[in-house]
Amino acid sequence: MDKKTVLVTGGAGYIGSHTIIELLNTNKYEVISADAFFNSSPRAYTQIEEITGKKIKQYEINLCDKKKAERIFLENRIDSLIHFAAFKAVGESVEQPLKYYHNNMESLINMISLCNQYGVANFIFSSSCSVYGNVEKLPVDENTPIPQAESPYAHTKQIGETLLQHVCKQHPAFNAVALRYFNPVGAHHSAKIGEWALNKPNNLVPLITGTAIGKYNLTVFGNDYPTRDGTCIRDYIHVSDIAQAHVLAVHYLLDKKNTSNFEPFNLGTGAGVSVLEAIAAFEKVSGKKLNYKIGARRPGDVIAVYSNSSKAFNLLGWSCKHDINSMMKTAWDWELYSKNRTD
Ligand SMILES: NC(=O)c1ccc[n+]([C@@H]2O[C@H](COP(=O)([O-])OP(=O)(O)OC[C@H]3O[C@@H](n4cnc5c(N)ncnc54)[C@H](O)[C@@H]3O)[C@@H](O)[C@H]2O)c1
Repeated sequence: MDKKTVLVTGGAGYIGSHTIIELLNTNKYEVISADAFFNSSPRAYTQIEEITGKKIKQYEINLCDKKKAERIFLENRIDSLIHFAAFKAVGESVEQPLKYYHNNMESLINMISLCNQYGVANFIFSSSCSVYGNVEKLPVDENTPIPQAESPYAHTKQIGETLLQHVCKQHPAFNAVALRYFNPVGAHHSAKIGEWALNKPNNLVPLITGTAIGKYNLTVFGNDYPTRDGTCIRDYIHVSDIAQAHVLAVHYLLDKKNTSNFEPFNLGTGAGVSVLEAIAAFEKVSGKKLNYKIGARRPGDVIAVYSNSSKAFNLLGWSCKHDINSMMKTAWDWELYSKNRTD
């Protein structure tokens, strides 16, 4: 049987690289990656090859440059595209909104229009739970109203989804799925690949593991929230579970199982974990006591958010394989493996 070809943009990044591994493991797909290494390193491809035994074709291209990006479509027959490439730091997006609107919108518009031009019918878009903002009713499902965005970053995801809906309406043969991730954490079980952020992370798990090796100092922002232990609750989800959902979304679109040509899906475990519970899980799996301090509440932090992901379960046949201990264990193994890396 002929293999289908999947173009993965942002394939050297955190979620993209894990998704490429899962796609290759099916033996059903040829994978092409396009990345400009703004927040990643070409070393991701070496690690993918070490893990899977397969070498992939890759392009170093800024996808905001449509002429250069077109080369990928001219040189390959692509069946599906997974669009990860974007900037993702919420705080930075508040400080530099234009940087985020330029990069996240231009690269997306170029990818959609090249898909339309070259007859690529299946598009999977990396969206985010940030589209829901501050929710009042939990858990969050796909019918939860989308309010005004809290940050330029979240706004680029909201606009991205709306844009896709309009294009889908206009082009009935074009099919899109938006996957709204909750809080991706952890690393591949081999520990050879994980989140390789070039800048200091803002998210809890890399801060916990980084604090444990003396790279950072963790502050827990607020322990007086109305939650079971006073700290904020989030829906952490293992990156390999997220990656697996992309493989299922590719199958779903290629097998024409979608009933509408634009469909959003939440990807979360459905189980909220507090900051102190995450720290306790880390201490349990690493056998290390974590030094951290309790600070004041941080402006803008939501008290609790977690997902109802039954739509992905029912329609994509997806479920999470990893619990918080496995998320922490793989994150810790990856921290130890990569701590002396300099590229
Ligand atoms: N990690 C999270 O917490 C999270 C949560 C929700 C949604 N998302 C979304 O998932 C996607 C992937 O996130 P990630 O955590 O893997 O981020 P990442 O930064 O590790 O990966 C993104 C990759 O895209 C590349 N890139 C960015 N702009 C590009 C451009 N114009 N041209 C070519 N390459 C470009 C970067 O170099 C990087 O390798 C993003 O769209 C992000 O917004 C991430």
